Amino acid sequence: MNYPFWEVPFIGGGMMIGIVAIVHVFVAHFAVGGGLFLPLTERKAYRENDPRILDYVKRHTLFFVLLTLVTGAITGVGIWWTIGLVHPPATRTLLLVFVWVWATEWVMFFTEIAAALIYYYGWDKLPPKTHLTVGWIYFAAAWLSLFLINGILTFMLTPGQWLQTRSLFHAFFNPTMLPSLFLRTLIAVALAGIFALFTATQVQPEDLREKLVRWASKWLIVPGLLMPLGLVWYLANAPESAKRLALGGAAPVMTVFVTLSLLMSVLIFAFSYLGASRFPKTFSQPFALLVMALAFLTTGMTEWVREAIRKPFVIYGYMFSNSIKPEEVSDLKRKGFLTSAKWTTVPKVTHDNFLETGREIFRLQCASCHTVEGYNGIKPLIYGWDEKMIDQALQRLHRLRGFMPPFVGTEDERKALAKWLAKIAIAENANLYVNQR
Ligand code: HEC
Repeated sequence: MNYPFWEVPFIGGGMMIGIVAIVHVFVAHFAVGGGLFLPLTERKAYRENDPRILDYVKRHTLFFVLLTLVTGAITGVGIWWTIGLVHPPATRTLLLVFVWVWATEWVMFFTEIAAALIYYYGWDKLPPKTHLTVGWIYFAAAWLSLFLINGILTFMLTPGQWLQTRSLFHAFFNPTMLPSLFLRTLIAVALAGIFALFTATQVQPEDLREKLVRWASKWLIVPGLLMPLGLVWYLANAPESAKRLALGGAAPVMTVFVTLSLLMSVLIFAFSYLGASRFPKTFSQPFALLVMALAFLTTGMTEWVREAIRKPFVIYGYMFSNSIKPEEVSDLKRKGFLTSAKWTTVPKVTHDNFLETGREIFRLQCASCHTVEGYNGIKPLIYGWDEKMIDQALQRLHRLRGFMPPFVGTEDERKALAKWLAKIAIAENANLYVNQR
């Protein structure tokens, strides 16, 4: 209500964040897991006195540094841009609650980047022991950055006691923080294994290739065995409504995604155990690519579900997805929604501006989840509904579908929204009234 609202056409703001975030999450977890893979594999090379393994780690380093530093940094900044634009009030809350955590996070990033560059340029220049230490420093900083961001991410689904105490400690060490950290660490290790499988499959000669493929597969098998434990632990601490949404079937797409990501995780595990570990000879690069593609899809789907199960909230129990706080609802109903919105050109419903104000209320109150005609488009959802039906639905949106916040506003405002919705439920061009504003 206090910030302008950026309406993203066709895909919606949430999807916009999702697209950037999924790429980022994939790369960022790899940055952590890879940070463990490099020094451990380097150590393996020294222990087995095998310069060929050392050579492999060296080549792996350039790819690793380029991918994580460049893509990680660009998509990381990209997330700040998109969440800041799509959801200024929630971004503001996260900044205010976690100021010192963010500050520490940036120190970790700085250490990470510096260590990665020294590690890369230090090959053959630094004594092996020092070089290995730099690798460990990189991993420590990378894992700590995961530790910090994980506390902030989990806060959004389970703010726990923070809702009463408003203490940073309760916000950070919230109910899903530990299980999620456990799961994310496993995912990071598995992703390192996936990238290692990809690079290991192109190594020559054959005996080294087999050795490295087998080594890489271990990085998938161990997390694969522990992951179900993490999942059960996580679910035990997630809110009931979130579990119902994910597993209950009320939101079919979500349940399908959950099932698919479980199935694909099993497939990845089967490929790495039965394929790479048992028969490294026949495990070829296309197989590695397939595993990587499956992992990317699984990451995408699980992150999407993790975001979606928070509905109707952006910060659970504290702020709805459309930036309204539950405690503000009764006040806004009385004073009026548009009158209280600071960034609108039509602050009041009059008898001749129903369509214009209706469209504006939709933009400010519904467009954080709905587009007009694209992703979760309102037009197909209400196709054929008449004004009376729509008005009745508006009076109990939060009961109609539990993952929607209640409609907030005066009776006039509700009527205006109903009129505009009824119009687009049949109109040829739903954006008719956008362009005139
Ligand atoms: C927190 C996100 C969110 C917000 C905010 C939101 N909705 Fe929804 N809404 C959804 C989702 C998700 C669906 C289900 C879509 C589906 O079934 O495919 C939905 C479905 C609907 C439906 C169809 C219900 C049915 O049972 O068929 C209507 C009507 C609707 N929304 C209207 C609105 C209006 C009007 C607003 C703004 C006042 C709004 N929504 C705000 C998420 C939201």
